[in-house]
Amino acid sequence: MKPSVLVCRAVFPDIVDRLREYFEVETNEADVVWSPAELIQHLQGKAGVFITGTQPIDTALLEACPQLKAVCSMAVGYNNVDLPACTAHGVLVSNAPDVLTETTADFGFALMMAAARRIAESEHFLRSGAWTKWSVDAFAGSDVHGATLGVLGMGRIGRGVARRGALGFGMKVIYHNRSHLDAATEAALGARYVSKEALLREADHLVIVVPYSAAAHHLIGAAELALMKPTATLTNIARGGIVDDAALAQALRDKRIAAAGLDVFEGEPAVHPDLLTVPNVVLTPHIASSSLPTRRAMANLAADNLIAALGLGPNKGKPPTALNPEVLA
Ligand code: GLV
Repeated sequence: MKPSVLVCRAVFPDIVDRLREYFEVETNEADVVWSPAELIQHLQGKAGVFITGTQPIDTALLEACPQLKAVCSMAVGYNNVDLPACTAHGVLVSNAPDVLTETTADFGFALMMAAARRIAESEHFLRSGAWTKWSVDAFAGSDVHGATLGVLGMGRIGRGVARRGALGFGMKVIYHNRSHLDAATEAALGARYVSKEALLREADHLVIVVPYSAAAHHLIGAAELALMKPTATLTNIARGGIVDDAALAQALRDKRIAAAGLDVFEGEPAVHPDLLTVPNVVLTPHIASSSLPTRRAMANLAADNLIAALGLGPNKGKPPTALNPEVLA
């Protein structure tokens, strides 16, 4: 008998069909966002689960689902999964790195440019019918080319953003990260490691790409925003909660900083009401990795991991992007 797996959200049908070659598959065609209790109910008897970056996988769930052996996410960020608890329960966890790096870096760059050049704000103005004449200083923003790009979190996506800035737009790149880049990468990007404080003070355009963890909660709040240039922009493509959204809305309203681009929010899909009323922020609904080829690649990678984690398919026993491969050893 085929093992049973659960696919938590509506996923490309051909990828679900690929899973059906190996598994009895329960899907969520209606794309309902299940509560933790509903998720536990759907997981009864399932050996594996295909998740996204939003379903919480914690000790309570693991204890309620003793048959569960694999949790495979199509997201790169896995702050929704208690990895040590999964390892302790012998549950393999995988995420989806690499396949979304360039697409997400493209989007980070686009949001930063939209904030700097006031694209969303001016588009709303035009659509509202307020455009009656060309004027000299209309929506005068700040330049991106030649400016200083500050990257907070220099992982794969951070490096992608830095590469675009340095090589495509002649930007001076500074960064802050847990570790330094190797000298060759620093030289190729012309990137300079600086303290978090110097990053905030010197960046014309700050792009946040650090993974979420308890330590990263409100890494950027009122005190940090106060260090930034009044002409600076802030872009967050990492996770909600890294930026204190209430403090950011206030800083934008007060013109403490010039503009922001946000793809992620504390408590999303709810958005802090103050962000909805300040004009100088571009807001998008967590879509940085959402090009069709990339979302398909992410889903295919999660499927590959699930098949391999449950001992099947060409990579059996060796899920390509396992986070705790030791549980299969
Ligand atoms: C999206 O936010 C991801 O982590 O893949």
